[in-house]
Amino acid sequence: MSEPAAKPVVLTCAQPTGRLHLGNYLGAVLNWGRMQDDHECYFGIVDQHAITVPTVPADLRANTYACLAQYMACGLDPARSRLFVQSHVTGHTELAWVLGCLCPLGQLERMTQFKDKAARQESVRAGLLTYPVLMAADILLYNAAKVPVGEDQKQHLELTRDLAQKFNHTYSDTFVIPEPYIAATGARVMSLQDPGAKMSKSDPNASATLFITDSADDIRRKVGSAVTDSGAEVRAAPDKPGVSNLLQILSACSGRPVAALEDDFRGKGYGDFKRAVTDAVEAVLAPVRSRFATFSADRAELDRVLKAGAEGAQRAAHRTLAKVHRKVGFVERPR
Ligand code: TRP
Repeated sequence: MSEPAAKPVVLTCAQPTGRLHLGNYLGAVLNWGRMQDDHECYFGIVDQHAITVPTVPADLRANTYACLAQYMACGLDPARSRLFVQSHVTGHTELAWVLGCLCPLGQLERMTQFKDKAARQESVRAGLLTYPVLMAADILLYNAAKVPVGEDQKQHLELTRDLAQKFNHTYSDTFVIPEPYIAATGARVMSLQDPGAKMSKSDPNASATLFITDSADDIRRKVGSAVTDSGAEVRAAPDKPGVSNLLQILSACSGRPVAALEDDFRGKGYGDFKRAVTDAVEAVLAPVRSRFATFSADRAELDRVLKAGAEGAQRAAHRTLAKVHRKVGFVERPR
């Protein structure tokens, strides 16, 4: 009997931030969840990347658990996918070392994210510079074919592809060359207070961001105070960025196309419109909020998920790493 065709490997990772917002959910995590049936999915929480800038240890630990509980609440399913913490799988840093030995320093110095972040630090850590090499290792370790990432990570993915090609060329064919995967359906959610900027977890204006764990009251208040414009028409247009953003959100939450929503609200005011947005967001987030409460209250279960995720990931990582070490010329590890 022939083996069933292997499903394509998808991997994506995120730093353990304490709270996901509606933009993370509608623009990214929801789509990751949809890939779980027909792909072999790896979802990593990258704590080693997090310490490339100053962090508070207790916060990092709490955020790692919170991040896991939020991903599970959003539908990432440990029964179908590997949910793991980067530092639990030793292969990431091991492969990063080998890749770093192939990586031109100048290419790291030219990374725009490095330049941005370095400009904001008093003293720049070497890990901040080599951050993209570790990211390349995250991806190549599992031979991921598709990597869902935002625009801001495309340069890092280019470097990953370069390093994979360089390794394949220097030694022999080893790594799958990964493609960025930008979902066609991902909504682009903007700040509720400044619809020219993307919704962000670190927005100083507390009303600008809808967090996935916000209460029904928070949602009503934030949507109610969202900026619109001095007109009265519910219509998507470049000169109506606030209304356009709310239409995007309503469309993503209700599944109705923007054009149909414009028809629904013809002749109605912003009050009715905002009530509909509030209800649609609440309908989407209420189950997420309640699942998050359940998962985050059960630390033992979260630890079991991480254990299973780490074991599955480590098995795949070992296979790659054994091959890499052999090709580089390292003597086989005594067993
Ligand atoms: N650098 C990514 C970010 O900040 C996080 C990340 C680390 C990642 N390793 C990855 C994303 C591997 C995709 C694949 O968003």
